[in-house]
Amino acid sequence: MTKQQSDSKTKGRYERHDPYYRAAKKQGFMARSIFKLEEIDKDFSLIKSDSWVLDLGCSPGSWLQYVDTRIAPSKHGGAVGVDVLPLKVSFAPYIHFIHANIFDVEISSLTPRAALNMPGTPLFFDVVLSDMAPNTSGIKSVDQDRSMALCEHALAIAEQILRPGGNFCVKVLEGGGMQAFVKECRRVFFDVKIRRPKGTRAASMETYVVGLKKK
Ligand SMILES: C[S@@+](CC[C@H](N)C(=O)[O-])C[C@H]1O[C@@H](n2cnc3c(N)ncnc32)[C@H](O)[C@@H]1O
Repeated sequence: MTKQQSDSKTKGRYERHDPYYRAAKKQGFMARSIFKLEEIDKDFSLIKSDSWVLDLGCSPGSWLQYVDTRIAPSKHGGAVGVDVLPLKVSFAPYIHFIHANIFDVEISSLTPRAALNMPGTPLFFDVVLSDMAPNTSGIKSVDQDRSMALCEHALAIAEQILRPGGNFCVKVLEGGGMQAFVKECRRVFFDVKIRRPKGTRAASMETYVVGLKKK
């Protein structure tokens, strides 16, 4: 058996026993990470029924699926998702996907009005989410640096196209520049919280920084 076959066998065995993976599959969500966003949203009420949401690193699509469940009944909100990988699920026209590397996109082209080009879409988002994760090298400091570069870019985007009073949620890797990043977030938001949702795998270094009420 090759290493790739062995890794995929181990992953398959792990997934069969992971309650979050099984629940996501049963409920038709594309990834188990749906439950992390759901928990954070329940704690902090990030997303309202008429919110406009930017989801950075949205593939395969479970966070956008969650956003859709929150906004679909009101018929007023919408979302823009960005990822280098394709989405594995399709959405109604009020959820728009941009297939791109976030570092190659003009920030002004991400706004609801620019991305959807539909009458009535706002100039700013109410919520900016980032679950972006870099390709990992296995070298802790390298992976932390790559992850921090994504976080800092997500914050720069939020600074430009999140409305005052809007909310931000970004995945970070613990250690590295995390404390400095939290300090940066405090400059931009009235309140900053750190949350490690229950669905986070025990061995994972990931956690979420939540910025509430943009200044
Ligand atoms: C953990 S996955 C996101 C899962 C997603 N929240 C969901 O629930 O379906 C992280 C994603 O970040 C994306 N990503 C990483 N770097 C990126 C970049 N520079 N630009 C756009 N997407 C990026 C990856 O392609 C990957 O799909």
